[in-house]
Amino acid sequence: MKIGICNDHAGVEYKFELKKYLEEKGYEVMNFGTDSTDSMDYPDVAHPLAEAVESGEVGLGIAFCGTGNGMAMTLNKHKGIRAGLAWSEEIGRLVKQHNNANILVMPARFIPFSEVIRITEAWLESDFEGGRHQRRIDKIPCR
Ligand code: RB5
Repeated sequence: MKIGICNDHAGVEYKFELKKYLEEKGYEVMNFGTDSTDSMDYPDVAHPLAEAVESGEVGLGIAFCGTGNGMAMTLNKHKGIRAGLAWSEEIGRLVKQHNNANILVMPARFIPFSEVIRITEAWLESDFEGGRHQRRIDKIPCR
């Protein structure tokens, strides 16, 4: 499984730590984020990650910014993306089970790294439940 990871300046540290953690677990991780803590604009890295997920270059994506909202808003402009913001392990699980999020977004400035690990594991290890949740997802696209 190849995972794309992206971040703005607020998420650099967590990006590196999570990349290392995932690689140790055997995932191949592609870095789409900035490696610098200099201020930058999150859409510049969010769009390339979204395109990589849409094209299948990576199977899933993970994104960090300060609150998670800028990344989620940008990523969700893409037709093939369901980016879900999660700040607890339970939401990490539900964002896969109910929303089938193909990109997990986390708020780097508001959760400890230990929570990042718990959320990521919950999301990776859960399966989409389909059924009524598929019907709801089918109603999401722009109108
Ligand atoms: C950067 O200061 C901050 O605005 C950004 O990381 C993010 O929180 C935006 O939604």
